[in-house]
Amino acid sequence: MTDTAASSTAEAFRVVRNPNPATDAERAERLKDLAFGLQFTDHMAHMTWTADEGWADRRVEPYGPLQMDPAASVLHYAQEIFEGLKAYRWADGSVHLFRPVANAERLNRSAWRMALPELPVEDFMESIHALVEIDQAWVPDAPETSLYLRPFLIGTDVFLGLRAPKRVDYLLIASPSGPYFKGGVKPVSIWVERDYHRAGPGGTGAAKCGGNYAASLRPQMAAIERGFDQVLYLDAATGSVLEELGGMNVFAVHKDGTVLTPILNGNILEGVTRSSIIQLVEDEDLKVVERDITLTELRQGIEDGDIVEVFACGTAAIVTPVGRMASEDFDVTVGDGEPGPVTLKVRQRLTDIQYGRAEDTYGWMTQVI
Ligand code: COI
Repeated sequence: MTDTAASSTAEAFRVVRNPNPATDAERAERLKDLAFGLQFTDHMAHMTWTADEGWADRRVEPYGPLQMDPAASVLHYAQEIFEGLKAYRWADGSVHLFRPVANAERLNRSAWRMALPELPVEDFMESIHALVEIDQAWVPDAPETSLYLRPFLIGTDVFLGLRAPKRVDYLLIASPSGPYFKGGVKPVSIWVERDYHRAGPGGTGAAKCGGNYAASLRPQMAAIERGFDQVLYLDAATGSVLEELGGMNVFAVHKDGTVLTPILNGNILEGVTRSSIIQLVEDEDLKVVERDITLTELRQGIEDGDIVEVFACGTAAIVTPVGRMASEDFDVTVGDGEPGPVTLKVRQRLTDIQYGRAEDTYGWMTQVI
């Protein structure tokens, strides 16, 4: 292995090259028919934090298994947070990130909630620049594909006492990916969960911590057994107000053009895609209202034809139409069950900006290559 200086955009990260990177032919094979989150590039970025020294040892190293003490705190007390963002290949071959600083800032809000150290935004950005630069050949160019970036922090303290960790590792891995849901913009079906909640008041709902996602899996499995794709959670305090899906925010479109989405109440994730959509919808001269939306109102609205579209959104899933919603006591088709015009328009506007097909009027894109 050779250590070489990193690029000028990432001089703080030393590079330890993978001695056995994929060959061009192997990489081309692995980039074919991409699904979400199954392929990984040749390298990963890594930094280590200690209570005594702060963040140190910035490096890009070969992608591979981590060596971790079995007493590492993440393995016992789930001291873990993560982010998700994408690098997009434009038609001219250049590579661009979508709102990376928003992810860096959210990572730090999650870090604060989970008693993990904050990561300087410059380190977050440099880690991405360094990794995407060395693994740029892995940024796919097929339609609807991108390099999904997964930054995360884990507590690696070797101590079984419960405390804020005194040692933490930051890692960034990259996964050339296709759509999160197979089959293009096919509407998904949603089971509204009554028995389990994703988050409670004062809990960790707004933090992007692995535990929130782990807790969503039992209801998700039950929903799949019932024949549904995803779960929609209601608030824990009253069981009547919409929150979010297991890994996506939710929007509803009224027939008068008003677009509704649950207000950020500390229980739901402050989605980067969510806030971008709010901006895009407002620019279509439609009104966005962030407020509590009750299940009764949504269900009645869908039944009466007042709510004509529902869609979910997130970095991985982009904008995904919801065609059917059900629970123990109801089963409704949203509109005619097909993706509606607002959903399709918002998805198109967002992806046009992300892939460089439309002008980036908001300054959301950052060129990496
Ligand atoms: C993302 O959309 O990037 C997420 O982190 C959600 C995850 C379930 C894939």
